Amino acid sequence: MSDSNKFDFSGLKRVVKIGISYRSLFTAVVIFAILSAVVSTYRPYLMKDAIDQYILNKDVPGLLYFILLIGAVLMVEVLLSFAVIFIANKIAQRVIRYLRVRLFDHIIKFKLSYFDRTPNGVLVTRSVSDIETIAEIFNNGILTLMVDTLRVIFIISIMYYMNWMVASIVIIILPLMIIITNLFQKALKKVYQAERTVTAKLNTYVQERLSGMTIVQLFNRQEKEFEGFKSINKELRTAFLKTNLYFALLFPVVDIVSAVAIGLLLWFGGLRTAVHGDVSVGEVMAFISYITMLTQPMRQIADRFNSIQRGLIGADRVFKILDDDQTLPNNGKEVLTDVKGEIEFEKVVFSYVPENPVLKGISFQSKPGETIAIVGATGAGKSTIINLLSRFYDIDSGDIKIDGKSIYSVELSNLRSHIAVVLQDVFLFNSTIYENIILGNTSISLENVEQAAKEIGIHNFILSLPNGYHTEVNERGASLSVGQRQLISFLRAYVYNPEILVLDEATSSIDTESETLIQNATEKLTKGRTSVVIAHRLATIQQADQILVMENGEIVEKGTHQELLEKGGYYHKLYEVQFQSSEF
Ligand SMILES: Nc1ncnc2c1ncn2[C@@H]1O[C@H](COP(=O)(O)OP(=O)(O)OP(=O)(O)O)[C@@H](O)[C@H]1O
Ligand SMILES: [Mg+2]
Repeated sequence: MSDSNKFDFSGLKRVVKIGISYRSLFTAVVIFAILSAVVSTYRPYLMKDAIDQYILNKDVPGLLYFILLIGAVLMVEVLLSFAVIFIANKIAQRVIRYLRVRLFDHIIKFKLSYFDRTPNGVLVTRSVSDIETIAEIFNNGILTLMVDTLRVIFIISIMYYMNWMVASIVIIILPLMIIITNLFQKALKKVYQAERTVTAKLNTYVQERLSGMTIVQLFNRQEKEFEGFKSINKELRTAFLKTNLYFALLFPVVDIVSAVAIGLLLWFGGLRTAVHGDVSVGEVMAFISYITMLTQPMRQIADRFNSIQRGLIGADRVFKILDDDQTLPNNGKEVLTDVKGEIEFEKVVFSYVPENPVLKGISFQSKPGETIAIVGATGAGKSTIINLLSRFYDIDSGDIKIDGKSIYSVELSNLRSHIAVVLQDVFLFNSTIYENIILGNTSISLENVEQAAKEIGIHNFILSLPNGYHTEVNERGASLSVGQRQLISFLRAYVYNPEILVLDEATSSIDTESETLIQNATEKLTKGRTSVVIAHRLATIQQADQILVMENGEIVEKGTHQELLEKGGYYHKLYEVQFQSSEF
């Protein structure tokens, strides 16, 4: 964790800048903070007057008046301190809301290769908890630190104003305070860091075990995983205990410092009062109050720095993503209208990982309205082809054209609006089927969706679900089978009625009922529009106008089902292996 060792001022500056941009709130909090520091340092001074002028002079009505005055000052002090905390929180919440929106908006535009490299867990942490820690910079961090610093300055000034000799004696403890604070801050930083590392470890451990619960139970790993959990938990406990130990030490040490200062004061101040008479009793009392006030922030200073530090680490991580431009270049200006659906791949070379080409010079062409089936062994590069057509990734060399226009010259959202994609593994959001189909486009009514479902023959299937179109699908569509999920995805594509359809048929075996539904829906969907289908079903392949046979990133054969069978090559073999087996 080398990044957490330095105090990153540029990050602090950026965060504070965002805070300052809420100008009226920020001005208010600064004014209240200054007032709060002034008023709280004024109270002991009032007390001094109360003692010297009224108590010692036995002036009872005057004393009553003074007590009321002190009470009023106390009230103001409380209100000010409330205002500072409240507004600081408000600013903090605005800052993190602003950052969170910006971050999400930024990440959502990143190209897919970024997500291939970055675990989802990391991005979730960045956009939720890391941003949360930034709030601490304001809440518990700089503003309170500012109040404390101001207070120290005011206290010292007022002490000197009262009596410079006594003040100088008391001030001797200042370096001592600084040294102790520093020592504890360093020590605490270390243990806090250890604590955080172990917490992160525990989070990852639990998260992974929860996602992989099936595997854990299937392979009877419960005992082992539990042992692992216990051992990390133990580490965490040790880390917590260490933090506690330092805090347990810090407070008595602060008390000793304060006691030493008070001792010095009583000795010297008392001497001056009794012998020389130039220090009043009230002043001695006020000095005692001030010493307590001086040492009080020491108890929290380590915590404050830690909050700021933690916030800065969070800020640093968030800014790193914000400064990282991983968006897919969208320089295309052309707009496709009246798409006929002629697709052409020209010697396309592509690699997910540099130097490791997955497609090694793919060329093919489709006439408008044709259905192209792609077949080939697993890992041959079939799904990759459709990733490229909708420009989820950019190619290394070659070109991809629609109606003779390179897709790289076309504006990205325009390009994608002409292509509907049904993926191999359908993702459904955690909401109703209807909402999963319209995806926020409320101009598509339920009637439209029902009509479309009837047309592709899945209306009855949807009605058979518990709540019809309003059935909630769980996370990742877990309550629906793979085949059923594809059907929903078909409907989604059909409703959007694009000129080009890309379909990656599910590889996992599908029950016969869904199978027939899928078959019919596929026919309906591919009819009259150019379709690229990664086919695992014999019926789809047989009806295709063109079959591309892929092996290891290359197209090894091309033709119709009949032509390819007669050729007796790779397709023939594949056909025998895949489709002559019991399933088909
Ligand atoms: N996001 C990715 N990052 C890196 N490599 C990838 C990525 N996606 C796929 N690959 C690799 O690219 C190759 C082709 O993958 P692709 O998904 O196109 O295969 P496929 O023909 O669709 O296989 P299947 O029939 O199993 O779906 C594989 O070797 C795979 O490991
Ligand atoms: Mg695939």
